[in-house]
Amino acid sequence: MANDTLSVTDNRTGKKFELKIENGCIRAMDLRQMKTDAEDFGLMTYDPAFMNTANCKSAITFIDGDKGILEYRGYPIDQLAEKSSHLETSYLLMNGELPSKAQLEEFTTKITHHTYVHENIKQFMDGFRYDAHPMSMLASTVAALSSFYPEAKQVKNKEVRRNQMMRLIAKMPTLAAFSYRHSQGLPYIYPNNDLSYTENFLTMVKSIGKPNWRPHPALVRALDVLFILHADHEQNCSTTSVRVVGSSEVDPYSAVAAGITALYGPLHGGANEAVLRMLREIGDKKNVPEFIKKVKDKDGDKKLMGFGHRVYKNYDPRAKVIKKACDEVFEVTGKNPLLDIAVELERIALQDEYFVQRKLYPNVDFYSGLIYEAMGFPMEFFTCLFAIPRTVGWVTQFEEMITDNEQKIARPRQIFTGPRKRDYVMLDKR
Ligand code: ACO
Repeated sequence: MANDTLSVTDNRTGKKFELKIENGCIRAMDLRQMKTDAEDFGLMTYDPAFMNTANCKSAITFIDGDKGILEYRGYPIDQLAEKSSHLETSYLLMNGELPSKAQLEEFTTKITHHTYVHENIKQFMDGFRYDAHPMSMLASTVAALSSFYPEAKQVKNKEVRRNQMMRLIAKMPTLAAFSYRHSQGLPYIYPNNDLSYTENFLTMVKSIGKPNWRPHPALVRALDVLFILHADHEQNCSTTSVRVVGSSEVDPYSAVAAGITALYGPLHGGANEAVLRMLREIGDKKNVPEFIKKVKDKDGDKKLMGFGHRVYKNYDPRAKVIKKACDEVFEVTGKNPLLDIAVELERIALQDEYFVQRKLYPNVDFYSGLIYEAMGFPMEFFTCLFAIPRTVGWVTQFEEMITDNEQKIARPRQIFTGPRKRDYVMLDKR
């Protein structure tokens, strides 16, 4: 039987070490015993961008990037997208099991009871300029929520913590909708607790002058499916930000605000906005080959936005579901004219040696922007549509981190490359 250890010889000293292998990992701290002399700090690993470092143990989301598998608590994403709702999936993520009918009703009622925000939030929103980016507004108002719930600091108290988690899931659509209304110069619409999570959100965003206006059910369902697809994605950039910030035991509002700012970046959730800008720039199907040429040019700075993923090296299973959702949405809204350019880009890229060799496939953001645009959302709002469903992932990961006895405040090491001790020189002598 294989021995689950790693034998290491430190050639600097000739010493031999036996390191335990657990879950396909060695513990980085086990390297510390390897020293050249008593003064030596001990061996470390250098891993910029955490390319090969597990930062936690997690039971929430499983990804096999080579096989294109994504599961929440063991349930395949395509089954959840087809059969579940975002709130049911949220319950699953938070509690580890699918809810019974009664549990789902109770969960839905609790979320519904937390959808309103304090009236002062409206004034806070009003302080933003008319053209403020909705993600800036969302990040700031979520951070501000911690000042409304000072008890949120009790992160070790399960009941208090769960209350904030529910509040965050419930209030995120309200805050996102308010940021949209502010940027459009429209009055805020209060939540309607008789509606489903997603229908209520769309109503708060879109309703103008007709109190009984309701979004098309097919669009509600399509957005709910998109919410399911975006609910969690293990240790991505924003979730890692939430865990790292949360490891200081700050309240979950502040930690989630950090997640929102990480998500805002064009290499992460901001990519769906970048995809639309790219498709507009290409302008026509016939310009696709020329654009692909520019992307491949090593001296250029163009990327094929919505392509590539740190983990998925086969295909992004979410992209498959989204492509199907595109058809359902376009049946109601009419086809987004940019779809033809996107399809052509995908077709050419998937045959091109550059993309094949590097295992670059469409990711979740490649088609989601087209759906959002067809639904009438402005580009600047797309990443908010990602932040709303990802909230459940962030808070669940926050809770897993805070209740994990192996976790401590996050604090990586560095390799210092700057100058060492030198004497200060007075200004007139420099
Ligand atoms: N277009 C063109 N070339 C690309 C792309 C792309 N979209 N993505 C990666 N490459 C190339 C890189 O230039 C590199 O080439 P090289 O080996 O010749 O230097 C190679 O593929 C490997 O890419 P890395 O940047 O090392 O891959 P990494 O894992 O660091 O990056 C990332 C992943 C950030 C997603 C990258 O693929 C990218 O920037 N994609 C476009 C932005 C995007 O769509 N982001 C959304 C990701 S999904 C999400 O966050 C929800």
